[in-house]
Amino acid sequence: MKLKNLVKTGVALSGLILASVMTVGGVSADQQSLTLAQVSEGFDPARTYVQSCSACHNSGAAGAPRLGNADDWSARAEKGLETLYENTINGYNNIMPPKGMCFTCSDDELKAVVDYILAESVE
Ligand code: HEC
Repeated sequence: MKLKNLVKTGVALSGLILASVMTVGGVSADQQSLTLAQVSEGFDPARTYVQSCSACHNSGAAGAPRLGNADDWSARAEKGLETLYENTINGYNNIMPPKGMCFTCSDDELKAVVDYILAESVE
């Protein structure tokens, strides 16, 4: 395939991905693009989760609530999003590390990762 076509395919593909992101979860496109605008371009909450959080949050190491486990997350979710965001940014109980060890993540990016975890777990 010629480079030009490859680039075209890439652009079409990212448009497609963006479009599907905007329609998931019953969130309107407006709300969703607001969230997307707050994180840096190319930031992928799912990828960051795998890189920084999964070591503890997949296995439940040290009592970490597990991804995809509604029982683990529903009690946490009841505390409210702001609390979960704060405890992610600052760390929690001396066992959940500050920023979940993603030291290059901005606060907004960490919030997007928390949103991702909740969407995968309790919604
Ligand atoms: C070194 C292990 C470890 C890593 C890495 C880690 N966590 Fe955690 N996390 C924990 C543990 C353990 C808890 C439960 C702490 C408790 O309830 O005492 C927790 C709790 C949480 C909570 C719930 C806080 C609350 O108020 O109940 C959130 C949200 C969270 N982690 C998000 C993340 C995110 C996002 C990342 C990655 C950016 C991450 N964690 C990375 C171990 C980890």
